[in-house]
Amino acid sequence: MGDKRGEMKKKRVFSGIQPTGDIHIGNYLGAIKHWVSIQSEFDCVYCVVDLHAITIPQDPKVLKAKIREVAGLLIAAGIDPEQTAIFAQSHITAHSELTWILNCFTPMGWLQRMTQFKEKSERQKEKVSVGLFDYPVLMASDILLYDTDLVPVGEDQKQHLEFTRDLAQRFNAVYGETFVLPDASIPEVGARIMGLENPTKKMSKSEGGEGNTINLLDPPDIIRAKIKRATTDSLREIRFDESRHGIHNLLVIYELFTGEDRGDIEARFEGKGYADLKNKLGEVVVEGLRPIQTRYKELTEDPQHIDSLLTRAAERVRPIAERVLKKVKDGIGIG
Ligand code: AMP
Ligand code: TRP
Repeated sequence: MGDKRGEMKKKRVFSGIQPTGDIHIGNYLGAIKHWVSIQSEFDCVYCVVDLHAITIPQDPKVLKAKIREVAGLLIAAGIDPEQTAIFAQSHITAHSELTWILNCFTPMGWLQRMTQFKEKSERQKEKVSVGLFDYPVLMASDILLYDTDLVPVGEDQKQHLEFTRDLAQRFNAVYGETFVLPDASIPEVGARIMGLENPTKKMSKSEGGEGNTINLLDPPDIIRAKIKRATTDSLREIRFDESRHGIHNLLVIYELFTGEDRGDIEARFEGKGYADLKNKLGEVVVEGLRPIQTRYKELTEDPQHIDSLLTRAAERVRPIAERVLKKVKDGIGIG
């Protein structure tokens, strides 16, 4: 099954991120931080999913710049391009090709049930593209092309992962063992960082106002100001209590940036006010993001550098994707 990786080979991890909007601490705490921490344990492949980005309208110049920005931020956050492949989805044509093939095996009803499609299409009304509807099939292709064992993502991608497994199983049942069945890896804490202004909804690149997200490239004074304005409640106690969305979210962000345990955090803020929590959190986030911002500045002094890393990574992983695609084509009698 899969490629010829023997028993001794590391398991493969694959994940993706869209080059749209600004990368925020939800992306970082829910996904990127984990991608960094598992690099030596697994054989990791991370993809800047530009073909997913165009499922909604994009400005060409902005998109081009965002592809570099996201790749640069992943490296600045600690992804080591020597060890781990970071590539752009459109550089490997097998993603589009497998998507077409899998389209022919995907029941429309499965796609109609996808909650992310329902939410996004609600906002776009009659402008919704076929591409947006097909988004999960492209995502399944990304994952299945690399014989992926594990997919580290935030909570919002859980349904897409279940879809991927169902589709792989359906194909394998007809054509024999072709695809490896991937497992989702969703963190216990931080899988759903909420918006600062509206803490009942996830922090999102495309929803909510400016003050709802903390972006990885936000300057320190902006970060502090956004945290100061974050929605809280009229109670006073600073405790981890999921029913108090605003305070819980701020405490989770504090926990993930400091690595302190919950008991210690509650003790630290015992008898203190929300202003104290917000001031301290502001410092913690500013200091937590500082090394990423510094490294990002250095990395992007030469814009060609990131482009060449993306090209090299695509060359490295393309043979894996092509091998799986060939197996699929052989199985169905084309190519
Ligand atoms: P996207 O920006 O949609 O491409 O997401 C990239 C990664 O960040 C995915 O693994 C998402 O599940 C994760 N992610 C996005 N928003 C959040 C959030 N608010 N909390 C935790 N993880 C998130
Ligand atoms: N849909 C994912 C998101 O919006 C991005 C993505 C595309 C992805 N392809 C993937 C994530 C493959 C994991 C694996 O976050």
